[in-house]
Amino acid sequence: MAKVRFTETALRDAHQSLLATRMRTRDMVPIAEEMDKIGYFSVEAWGGATFDTCIRYLNEDPWERLRQLKSEFNNTPIQMLLRGQNLVGYKHYPDDIVTKFVEKSYENGVDVFRVFDALNDIRNMEKAIKVAKSQGAHVQGTISYTISPVHTLDDFVNLAKDLEALDCDSVSIKDMAGLITPNAAYELVSKLKEETDLLVDLHCHCTSGMTPISYYAACQAGVDILDTAISPLSWGTSQPPTESMVAALQNTPFDTGLDLKSLANIKKYFDQIKEKYLGILDPISESIDADVLLYQIPGGMLSNLISQLKEQNALDRYTDVLDEMPRVRKDMGYPPLVTPTSQIVGIQAVMNVLGGERYKNVSNEVKEYMKGMYGKPPAPVNSEISKKIIGDEEVITCRPADLLEPEFDKFKQEGEKEGFVKSDEDALTYALYPPIAPKFLKGEAQEEELAQPHVLDENEGIGIPTEYNVEVDGDIFEVKIMPTGFMEVNDMGEVQEAIPGAVTSAIQGMVIKLNVNIGDKVTKGSTICVIEAMKMENDIQSEVDGVVKDIFVEPGDAVSIGDTLMVIE
Ligand code: CO
Repeated sequence: MAKVRFTETALRDAHQSLLATRMRTRDMVPIAEEMDKIGYFSVEAWGGATFDTCIRYLNEDPWERLRQLKSEFNNTPIQMLLRGQNLVGYKHYPDDIVTKFVEKSYENGVDVFRVFDALNDIRNMEKAIKVAKSQGAHVQGTISYTISPVHTLDDFVNLAKDLEALDCDSVSIKDMAGLITPNAAYELVSKLKEETDLLVDLHCHCTSGMTPISYYAACQAGVDILDTAISPLSWGTSQPPTESMVAALQNTPFDTGLDLKSLANIKKYFDQIKEKYLGILDPISESIDADVLLYQIPGGMLSNLISQLKEQNALDRYTDVLDEMPRVRKDMGYPPLVTPTSQIVGIQAVMNVLGGERYKNVSNEVKEYMKGMYGKPPAPVNSEISKKIIGDEEVITCRPADLLEPEFDKFKQEGEKEGFVKSDEDALTYALYPPIAPKFLKGEAQEEELAQPHVLDENEGIGIPTEYNVEVDGDIFEVKIMPTGFMEVNDMGEVQEAIPGAVTSAIQGMVIKLNVNIGDKVTKGSTICVIEAMKMENDIQSEVDGVVKDIFVEPGDAVSIGDTLMVIE
């Protein structure tokens, strides 16, 4: 047995899981040199939600973060998490953007690319893998691990063989919800070692509480790499603690050879960091959620909804949402629940429960999913539900990105013309997040303030819940539920007189597209604008036939519930 090596996740997954991805670059750099001496297989420090959070909340250039870290990590490879054709976003990007993004990521400092697809559809990983390989990077193909009536051990092993055929150097078992049992980990790792020549990595979250045992079982089966987080940022929805795993494996055939004393210095540093970010650390995300074992869904995702419901003494909705999640997942052909399918399924479940009728409100992402635009679901989707959502629209069978036209040059030229794109990296940032990138690139974004620990005031905890916080991929979104049609509410929450013909927003989010101009005729049911909320796009439809008299918003505007978007008469 060879010794086991560790990927340290403190700078990416651990703070994404526990601190809403809010750790600043200036809090990473001072400890990087120390971390570089440890002897990790890699440090995961980029990708996932970090890119989005940097420009959306931190007023930081993610590319600059990467370059700064690269200048500190001279010995340790920097690893990133790449969502296949989704890169670090939530939809498929055309091949030219994937190519440019992977090239630039490598150039700016990424050494190891972990590439996954939420549906395990290899067609969505192929392009990124090939480009990263051609750059000379270490490429880690990924199995998005899940449990369902349609997933088998052989499916996972066959996927690994396909990844090996694409020249991947290693394969990661990505267990987002900590569902893998010790026995399943043993069987899967053994089989992967038997049937492929790939290095095998196991990446788990501790949500269910089984993970350290599963890690040990994986060691016995010959695992090569385990993902861990330095102890202050470990447990709960994060990874098992690095030091504890090092100690557990000492003087066994799997000894990591890592030095506990050196790790103690790093721990001390992250103790302070944790203290600093305590205001955004939800105690629920740090604890074990055994419900995961019953419901097989990532625990972190709805933790905030749960805590709100508990405070409001309305836990009946919690069970409803929890019950609805597996039903939505079944309707959608059992996708593994990982970004972006976790959001798509999770938010649809919330909408189904709070909306009073299943699939009455459907995000554009669910429509696209049903049309096959995310790839091939593991099992056929529920045809009745699909018909309700997309009618007789055709379902595609080709690789989704084959339908996408090249876009990089368009974004680059447009951004240069506007004056805010000065490099290929800027152009990529713009291409990935058109609604929010311009503000950041123009230097008009502001770093959000660090949240203080939440203290309950005495008025909280009573009444009927109308406001929920929904956590999506480490970001907290406010969702307010209220009757529509007979009252308008302004920013202050005061009830206002409605403007005749006013179309108001029923969600808090950002206008990303206007489909009409003043003077346009619209018909009932036609889409008049698109609002992004909780990272999902929602079509806003006209409820009447009429003419657009006035428009009060433009793309990029943030809107609250009750804000008047336009007037249709
Ligand atoms: Co993870």
